[in-house]
Amino acid sequence: MDTAILRNRFREQFGTSGDLYFSPGRINLIGEHTDYNGGFVFPGAVDKGITIEIYRNGSRKVCLLALDQKENNYVEFTLDDASKPEEHWACYVFGVCKELEKRGVTLGGFNAAITGDVPLGAGMSSSAALESVFAFALNTMFAGGRVDKFELAKIGQATEHNYCGVNCGIMDQFASVFGREGCLIRLDCRSLEYEYFPFDPKGYTLVLIDSCVKHTLGNEYNERRESCENAVAAVATQWIGVESLRDVDYTMLNSVKKMLTDTDYRRAKYVLDEKERVLAVCDALNEGNYELVGRKMYETHWGLSRDYTVSCPELDFLVETAQECGVTGSRIMGGGFGGCTLNLVRDTLYDKFVSKATREYSLKFGITPKVYRVVIGDGSRKLQ
Ligand code: GLA
Repeated sequence: MDTAILRNRFREQFGTSGDLYFSPGRINLIGEHTDYNGGFVFPGAVDKGITIEIYRNGSRKVCLLALDQKENNYVEFTLDDASKPEEHWACYVFGVCKELEKRGVTLGGFNAAITGDVPLGAGMSSSAALESVFAFALNTMFAGGRVDKFELAKIGQATEHNYCGVNCGIMDQFASVFGREGCLIRLDCRSLEYEYFPFDPKGYTLVLIDSCVKHTLGNEYNERRESCENAVAAVATQWIGVESLRDVDYTMLNSVKKMLTDTDYRRAKYVLDEKERVLAVCDALNEGNYELVGRKMYETHWGLSRDYTVSCPELDFLVETAQECGVTGSRIMGGGFGGCTLNLVRDTLYDKFVSKATREYSLKFGITPKVYRVVIGDGSRKLQ
């Protein structure tokens, strides 16, 4: 992205120049709502994210300018403040500071300007990008890079839990910090072992269609997580050593079906189905069988829509349109409740699909969806 505007605004506001850092948003090929269930995910960083310019100011004050916010775009707090700022966007930075300090990093005050090209509320994890870019920059500036990358991801996740009200898993922050150009990463969210998978599906393209339904994760997301915990608690009354849905199979789940509400049962069942799909997709990728990958993506979508209930009419419509058009795979991506569908499309079908989806969606919902061709990029870094 062009950083000239950022540099100018920083200088105007703070009278100096600083260092530039970047952290990306992410996509996730498959493995949705599995991260907080100890399962596998398959994310990759994208080439879009959040860029900041930042400079130590020698005080205890943190001064933040958010270039893309229309209102209340300037916030100050001190590192000694006990309560978080009122502006939601600034809570992410406040949280990261607090979480770094909890881990023994002594911070000093700083001025920072923030901008981004990852769409907000589109399910591409703009919030994880924001957390990661500050965690990475502050670690470099005040701790000589001593905090390891996993801990940086956990700092972002803890910020969501403790300052932003979202009990998310580790996937988004992990992908933002660990991303590698051209690679998806299979992460085992229980052991935190991970493996880079070069992803270059010859003859296919990944494209995001943004429903423009703004997704915000909060209570509804947390409720899904609670359903999973209820299922685990029920299974744990009958089976020893069960800590998450990762440890649960269909026999175990069915043996406690009567103890669960229908909603909780269906959500837990979705997670078991998704665990199997992720493994099937890994095999399919190894064999270059993208048609199978695509079929699993559709299954994930309808599982998320009917059993996990995190879809909406707009996203279902986009997936149905993809299906009608013969697209290889299509599904909701990320937490749900709006945002983008992720589509695996044969190159020969790409133009036809994008124009059909755009036209039909506009006709039905009166809004033109945005289209982003996915480029898989690197994770958090300092820019030169
Ligand atoms: C959000 C959360 C992630 C993950 C996804 C769903 O993006 O931040 O931790 O749970 O939803 O897969």
